[in-house]
Amino acid sequence: MSGLFITLEGIDGAGKSSHLAAISETLKASGRRVTLTREPGGTPLAEKLRTLVLNDAMDPLTEALLIFAARRDHLGQVIGPALARGEAVLCDRFTDATFAYQGAGRGFNLETLLLLEQLIQKNQGPEAASFRKPDLTLWFDLPPGVAAERLASARQPDRFEAQPQAFFERVAQGYAARAQEDPSRFARINAHQPPDAVWGEVLNALRQHRAVT
Ligand code: TYD
Repeated sequence: MSGLFITLEGIDGAGKSSHLAAISETLKASGRRVTLTREPGGTPLAEKLRTLVLNDAMDPLTEALLIFAARRDHLGQVIGPALARGEAVLCDRFTDATFAYQGAGRGFNLETLLLLEQLIQKNQGPEAASFRKPDLTLWFDLPPGVAAERLASARQPDRFEAQPQAFFERVAQGYAARAQEDPSRFARINAHQPPDAVWGEVLNALRQHRAVT
C-alpha cells in the first residue's frame, strides 16, 4: 500500500480533535497502519518548539520560523519515514494552519510563507523535484462565533486561543482561501452540526478520497 498523508484543520473549537481517534480506527479497519501525530510537534524537538510558540511572546517572523523549523524536523523524523513505509499519516494540523493563523490571522507576508513552505517541504534524494503535501485535508468549518462559545468553557487558553473573535474570522477566511487554491485536496466538513452528522461527512470524504473502503 502506498503512503497516505491526511491532515485535519480548522479554527480552535471547530471540533477536529474529537474525531481523530475514530478516523484512525477507521483507517486501521481498512487494513492500514496509522501514524497519529500533530503540529506544531510530533518529535521531541518539535514538541519543545511547540511549547515556546504556544506560550512565549515573539515577533511574527520568529513565530513562523519556529513553526517551520518544527515542521522540518517532523517531516524528516516522522512523516517522511512513515509514508515511505506505506503507512497512513494522520496529522492534527499542518501547513494550512500556518497560512491561516500566521498569514491570515497575524497578517504575516504570504509570499514569505510560500517560500518557507517550498523550502521545508521539498523532498530529498531521488524525489528532489517533488514537494511533500497532504493527499487529503479535512477542513472542519465552523462559524467563529460558535467556536468562541464552545471554547469559553474550555481549559486555560494558549496564545492563539486567547485571541479575539476577529482574529478567528481572519483565520477562517485564510482556510477558505487555501481550500479554494487546492480544491481537490480539501474536503470541507460542516462542523456546525451534531457530532454524528459531522462524522458522516468525515467518513464520506475518506471514502471519496479512497482512504478507506
Ligand atoms: P491545536 O491543534 O489547537 O492544539 P490543542 O487542541 O492542543 O489546543 O493547535 C495549537 C495551536 O497552534 C492552534 O491554536 C493553532 C496554532 N498553530 C499555528 O498558529 N500555526 C501552525 O502552523 C500550526 C500547526 C498551529
